[in-house]
Amino acid sequence: MTNFLITGGAGFIGHHLAKYLLGMEEKVTIFDCFSDYYSPYLKWRNARDVEKLGGTIVEGNILSKRELEKAINKNNIDTVIHLAAQPGVRYSTENPEMALRINVEGTSNVLSVSRENGVKKAVITSSSSVFGATKQMPMDENHPTNPISFYGVSKLTTEKLVAVCNHLYPEFDTSILRPFTVVGARQRPDMAINIFVSRVLNRETITIFGDGNQTRDWTHVGNMVQAFYLAAIKPKAKHQIFNVGAGTRISVNQVLAIVAEVTGIDPILKHTEMNKADVKDTFADIGKAKRLLGYHPRKTISDAVVDFAQYWEDVNYGKLLASEKLIETELGSTEIFSP
Ligand SMILES: NC(=O)c1ccc[n+]([C@@H]2O[C@H](COP(=O)([O-])OP(=O)(O)OC[C@H]3O[C@@H](n4cnc5c(N)ncnc54)[C@H](O)[C@@H]3O)[C@@H](O)[C@H]2O)c1
Repeated sequence: MTNFLITGGAGFIGHHLAKYLLGMEEKVTIFDCFSDYYSPYLKWRNARDVEKLGGTIVEGNILSKRELEKAINKNNIDTVIHLAAQPGVRYSTENPEMALRINVEGTSNVLSVSRENGVKKAVITSSSSVFGATKQMPMDENHPTNPISFYGVSKLTTEKLVAVCNHLYPEFDTSILRPFTVVGARQRPDMAINIFVSRVLNRETITIFGDGNQTRDWTHVGNMVQAFYLAAIKPKAKHQIFNVGAGTRISVNQVLAIVAEVTGIDPILKHTEMNKADVKDTFADIGKAKRLLGYHPRKTISDAVVDFAQYWEDVNYGKLLASEKLIETELGSTEIFSP
């Protein structure tokens, strides 16, 4: 059994990963500061679900080396999967300093504290945003990296930190994953599937940036967590970077058609200009992840839309957000580190 620490484990991908690892009989501690980028109440909900399955919650901030050190040592961590970040391409245009501080300084802390405290393996999360404008498709790991958002710059800098760490400390085992647009139940409220399905079910207008012909490699979160696990356990992953997508390219308009089919409701659309920080197309070449990790994405964008719609209905998403003030009573027995 491996002792995993998942930074950002209360978030969308992190909590799915925690549940997956617990299902594989691994030990899991989630480390999260429950940031208010979106409802901390949703994150506490995710964390409590992980706790119910046997995971441990540590409230802490990756900007504090002391909090990280305490979490790693107290829980005898062997492997760190680092997902905590300030996400959001568009948000980073208005708040570049947040993306840079949390993603760069935070990742530097995770790397050094892990290495200095006996952690054997660190899997670091980058993003397809490191590529910027598409030069060729599908995009393999050697595609040029010229980010067009501050978020993309922060993730590329993260990759450079890992490269220096590999050079200076070759015995320390690291891997980098570059997720392509991750989709599924509990997706972040600033992301497309959440917005599309929530708005359609609420009969609200959806704003589309551009003509909707832009394409993404939409990656079901169930595929994504499989890739994280494989990168954590496979020796061939050492010091490697992997693009992780579905290996398919589907337009926003096609996704809207899937949403209409799944919900039985025609979306009401409004078009506005493309955001300058958004890339036009993404499409992952997943050959390397298949070859070295044995990664095989099985779930599709249609599965993700069904899963999100089901989740929305199950938890009565609108009402849930309105009851956010309940968070005070949710904190209960959680281990809280003071700075
Ligand atoms: N969702 C995607 O499509 C996607 C695509 C590419 C890369 N990524 C990357 O995957 C990771 C997870 O993304 P997500 O969509 O699950 O986002 P998320 O916002 O749902 O999860 C991130 C978690 O990190 C926590 N966090 C933020 N700042 C922190 C700090 N200073 N200390 C401790 N915890 C902190 C948040 O509270 C949150 O729970 C991020 O690194 C993101 O950049 C996501």
